[in-house]
Amino acid sequence: MQNIRNIQNRAMIIAMTGASGAAYGLRLMQKLLKENIFLHVLLSDAACVVLKQECDLLLPEKAAGKSKMLAEYLGVDATSLCCYEKHDWFSPAASGSSNIRQMVVVPCSMGTLAGIANGISDHLIERAADVMIKERKQLILVPRETPLSAIHLEHMLKLSRLGVDMIPAMPGFYHRPKAIDELIDFMVDRILDHLHVNNAEAKRWGE
Ligand SMILES: Cc1cc2nc3c(=O)[nH]c(=O)nc-3n(C[C@H](O)[C@H](O)[C@H](O)COP(=O)(O)O)c2cc1C
Repeated sequence: MQNIRNIQNRAMIIAMTGASGAAYGLRLMQKLLKENIFLHVLLSDAACVVLKQECDLLLPEKAAGKSKMLAEYLGVDATSLCCYEKHDWFSPAASGSSNIRQMVVVPCSMGTLAGIANGISDHLIERAADVMIKERKQLILVPRETPLSAIHLEHMLKLSRLGVDMIPAMPGFYHRPKAIDELIDFMVDRILDHLHVNNAEAKRWGE
């Protein structure tokens, strides 16, 4: 297995799927890496299409190449994160026996939302999410779609009742953002709060 340092410090699974809002995923990874959190990164095929479309980031096909390029893009050492193939059932994310306790799917497409809500586990993102739910670990989904159909809403309600944190990509405007980065940070800061990750830079209501 490439690049996994034998770390005692915290590790998380960050999955990106093909919903709009790839910048949220990249920014979240940047902030987690700054806190020395090791990232197990799962990217769906559609996520790679959206990364190219929205962020001009064209990743190679193989997971090892993805790890290298993503680390370069985020400005971190190659041992700080590891990407996996879509069906790598030998990765830590695939098993409840791993010591990973938190996972975020950001952005989360309605397709992946449906797969998770129905326990499909057909690829590593769905399997990893299924593991988090069955092991009662923390799973955060950041869904993005509009409008939402009754199918989407039923899936979200089902997952919320199972204890999954639903943090829809709906930035607020009460802090009067002037730039897109501020809207991205608004969402990422809420996710970091739910992950209990130190984030002193976050703008907070009433401060
Ligand atoms: C540029 C772009 C933006 C998209 N935006 C969304 C979106 O916001 N929400 C969504 O559910 N699907 C969106 N899609 C469609 C998904 O990518 C598509 O349903 C895909 O099959 C999802 O696969 P995945 O869940 O494996 O990533 C978008 C696709 C593209 C190319």
